[in-house]
Amino acid sequence: MTAEAEVLSLKNIHMAFGGVVAIQDFSLDLRAGEIVALVGDNGAGKSTLIKIVSGVYTPTSGTIRLGGETTSFADASSARSKGIEVVYQDLALADQQPVYMNMFLGRELTKPPFGLLDKARMRQESQTLVDELDVRIPSASSTIRDLSGGQRQGIAIARATHWASKLILLDEPTAALGVAETARVEELIANLKAKNLAILIISHSLDQVFKLSDRICVLRRGEQIGIRETAKTDKNEIVSMITGVA
Ligand SMILES: Nc1ncnc2c1ncn2[C@@H]1O[C@H](COP(=O)(O)OP(=O)(O)OP(=O)(O)O)[C@@H](O)[C@H]1O
Ligand SMILES: [Mg+2]
Repeated sequence: MTAEAEVLSLKNIHMAFGGVVAIQDFSLDLRAGEIVALVGDNGAGKSTLIKIVSGVYTPTSGTIRLGGETTSFADASSARSKGIEVVYQDLALADQQPVYMNMFLGRELTKPPFGLLDKARMRQESQTLVDELDVRIPSASSTIRDLSGGQRQGIAIARATHWASKLILLDEPTAALGVAETARVEELIANLKAKNLAILIISHSLDQVFKLSDRICVLRRGEQIGIRETAKTDKNEIVSMITGVA
């Protein structure tokens, strides 16, 4: 692997909450244009790992390298400022607001001289983005509460894509969606590869994992069981890695 291609490198990450060891000795390299799936049973440590990479938690020990440089995140906004965006299962969208305000939530565009919100520009840039990603919504002025779950998740992914320069973390992005909506969101995720971002996705659906990922990383009770190339493994192997039953 070349140094340029390495987006994120985790080395010997350890995370304990008091006496509970949530992650022990976890190491993973993520490359640009690659989708890695993180799988494991409930409580395996998947969300904890995503929270470490997104700056919500500081690991007890271990190293995080971003673009080849050792880094640490003071908090989630420090990770965001370094090009890392997260999409959660339960959406962090403002229901009463239009799509374009959500797209720029916390990073609103303003115009001189009085610093008023530049709604026209936010609307236009949001529209361009949803069109480009083919997120099918009535318009960038639609209110979030009038959209379907799949459309909302489409907006959350579009927002992450807009702001992420390096890495997108997805924590069960389709868990709350129906079949057709899930398929649509999976298409969006697959298309992100073309943007040369690195993508780490947590999913309980092995169908989804096998459809989307290049590699699969298995956690069991905080322990890293192994990493497989998706094309060189099968569901039986992954299930036995997850459960520990051969
Ligand atoms: N803030 C916290 N304080 C104490 N323990 C925690 C905290 N967050 C997570 N844990 C513990 O760490 C372990 C891993 O939890 P985590 O949420 O990462 O699991 P997960 O793999 O995401 O599970 P799920 O599939 O159910 O979402 C669990 O035993 C959990 O109880
Ligand atoms: Mg979780």
